[in-house]
Amino acid sequence: MRRPRRNRKSEVIRSMVREHEVTVSDLIFPLFVIDGKVTKSEVSSMPGIFRFSQDFLLKEIEACMKLGLKTFALFPNINEELKDKYAKESHNDLGLYIRTIEEVKRNFPEACIMTDVAMDPYSSDGHDGLVKDGKILNDETLMILGKMALTQARAGADIIGPSDMMDGRVGYLRELLDNEGFTDVSIMAYTAKYASAFYGPFRDALNSAPKAGDKKTYQMDPANQAEALIEAELDMVEGADFLMVKPALAYLDVIKLLYDNFELPIAGYNVSGEYSMVKAAAAKGWIDGDKAMVESLTCIKRAGAKIILTYFAKEFAERQGR
Ligand code: PBG
Repeated sequence: MRRPRRNRKSEVIRSMVREHEVTVSDLIFPLFVIDGKVTKSEVSSMPGIFRFSQDFLLKEIEACMKLGLKTFALFPNINEELKDKYAKESHNDLGLYIRTIEEVKRNFPEACIMTDVAMDPYSSDGHDGLVKDGKILNDETLMILGKMALTQARAGADIIGPSDMMDGRVGYLRELLDNEGFTDVSIMAYTAKYASAFYGPFRDALNSAPKAGDKKTYQMDPANQAEALIEAELDMVEGADFLMVKPALAYLDVIKLLYDNFELPIAGYNVSGEYSMVKAAAAKGWIDGDKAMVESLTCIKRAGAKIILTYFAKEFAERQGR
């Protein structure tokens, strides 16, 4: 009789046969920056996650670095009066976001900084692209994304993260970066980014929800799998260094699909809503939040994501250090 339970009989054996284990170096910690000084404000729908003013952000990054957590995805919370149709603030080299990237790299040259390329945090329409008569204009948006990416690269970005889902943006940005001498700046493509309800808390954090309509003409339909292969093929050919699936937990099949079909490292974005659900249920005493965190991250890795963007990153790193 075969007895698979023998390989589960002790923690020593279990850890010996364990196929996948999350390590701190797999993780990218998304961080929100706001204007001001000595300020941090908790995102009410994301307990334990704060919008930091630049000085506090530096302290937070320092604390994370000590825990071995070294890669950060920065997102800006832009004051409403700085938003416009063209997201001009996104390529203002004296603006909050760009100054923050510079400061972080100046203080922590060894930190790896991933920046966000999309119009929504700066757009008065709250969309990732340029809106005209209720439509999102693809190619006109690319020019704005290009300015944004170049400004970020000049500020010291290590990885550019186009999260906008416009067609052709990876190739467009790659060429622009290369022509300006930024051949070493990586691109992590938000390859299969779905039009998801799980982004709600993130939009609270940045106050970036669309003012009208939804994102379904650019983000993918949650019902589709084959389409992720088309997106991945394009991103790979256009020069992406990493392929990302977002959200992660409800889309593990898509992570696995890309893992099986592409040689590039796959990232999974364990998004805001996935974080908040665990936190909310744990706060009610309905689940063990710590165990649910480790299980979620492990399962994302098992599905094939070597890299995980997660709001749990610091908590996980603290746990590993104990
Ligand atoms: C927008 C962007 C979103 C997220 C990252 N970049 C939200 C959206 O597309 O509306 C979501 C991240 C999260 O929910 O954690 N460019």
